[in-house]
Amino acid sequence: MRMVDLIIKKRDGHELSDEEITFWIDGYVKGEIPDYQSSAMQMAILFRGMNNREIATLTDRMEHSGEVLDLSHLKGVKVDKHSTGGVGDKTSLVLGPMVAACGATLAKMSGRGLGHTGGTLDKLESIPGVTIAIEGDRFAKQVNSIGCAIVGQTGSLVPADKKMYALRDVTGTVESIPLIAASVMSKKLASGSDAILLDVTVGEGAFMKNMDDARTLAHIMVDIGNRLGRNTKAVLSDMSEPLGLAVGNALEVKEAIAALHGKGPEDLMELCYTAGSIMLVQANCAKDLEDGRKKLHEAIESGAAFEKFVKMIEAQGGDISYILHPEKFVVAKNLIEIRSEQEGYVKSLDALDIGIASMQLGGGRETLEDVIDMSAGIMLNKKIGDYVKKGELLCTLHTNKSEKEYAPIIEDVKKAYVIVKEKVEARPVIREIIEK
Ligand code: URA
Repeated sequence: MRMVDLIIKKRDGHELSDEEITFWIDGYVKGEIPDYQSSAMQMAILFRGMNNREIATLTDRMEHSGEVLDLSHLKGVKVDKHSTGGVGDKTSLVLGPMVAACGATLAKMSGRGLGHTGGTLDKLESIPGVTIAIEGDRFAKQVNSIGCAIVGQTGSLVPADKKMYALRDVTGTVESIPLIAASVMSKKLASGSDAILLDVTVGEGAFMKNMDDARTLAHIMVDIGNRLGRNTKAVLSDMSEPLGLAVGNALEVKEAIAALHGKGPEDLMELCYTAGSIMLVQANCAKDLEDGRKKLHEAIESGAAFEKFVKMIEAQGGDISYILHPEKFVVAKNLIEIRSEQEGYVKSLDALDIGIASMQLGGGRETLEDVIDMSAGIMLNKKIGDYVKKGELLCTLHTNKSEKEYAPIIEDVKKAYVIVKEKVEARPVIREIIEK
């Protein structure tokens, strides 16, 4: 078999056999197939697509490219959650402790942020002392005693995705439904949880820009998970504007802490209640969604969810005085207020523009080697549907960059806000739930 023939086959719109997909992935992981051929194949897939059988085989080969975890020695039904990425998405930090407080077990492997999207591991690391490198017995002990752990993926898990994702990131091949489905599901399957809740984001700040694509991606992933024996469901959530009000690592952790006290922004709380109630049913900890929602409300109101978060951070080496007194988080040197130049309703607030601006303020990385400024980011004061007067605060930029560096970012953020005279409704965060 020659890789070039497989690239030509896919380029011309034909199906790849299981053997051909195996030849590609195994050869690529072993270093026998070079990056340039693998990226040509990924571009051919982006244009030509894959059928469900091809996607299932690709997922399976990627999953088995490295270690596959067996979590059967851990107590209870293990539920996992994965978002396809967004701006201001601190859901896992809130949701994990919430479902754990209701009896579910969350053993979650998270990722880092790249480009305009944030990553849960970076957010966690903005808490002094926290380690995400927890493996083996320590991981099992934490999950068994506290019910939740959010850690980094071990080096040996799904090496194929690491190589392929790095290539996709620099070759314009991230936004491919088959490649995203295989990337997400190979990691979820290799991480060993019994049940999976996928949060498929849709809108300007997400990889899926419209509902049709988001729905297709969600159905493919739900189908793969269920066919392989994992109870898999999905929510489609809005990412046309950022989630919540905070964008940037420490800012988002502070917002997550507020949410665990029941004082989070409405969209974030709603996403956590909806996703959390599905997860509780999947974990056999609630009889239906209504019961799940009620239990989650109780966990927030009683302080049990916050208590779980404190325990999780403590177990992962973090200084919990920051969780108990969030005012301790270091604040950036420059706080730049952006005020509205007109009166009206916020019609749009482009999540992609805000994500890029936050990254440029120091809050994200353009390449994996970049060092993040944990205090940098953007605090939004107005979101879609809000009424704003002339001169009223739209948002505040947090940065340690020089004025010369941040001046152009101010203009970009102003452009991200579109304000109109006519009344605009706020956008619902949950767009759809996909069960099968
Ligand atoms: N998240 C992933 O893990 N993989 C993708 O390809 C896109 C989003």
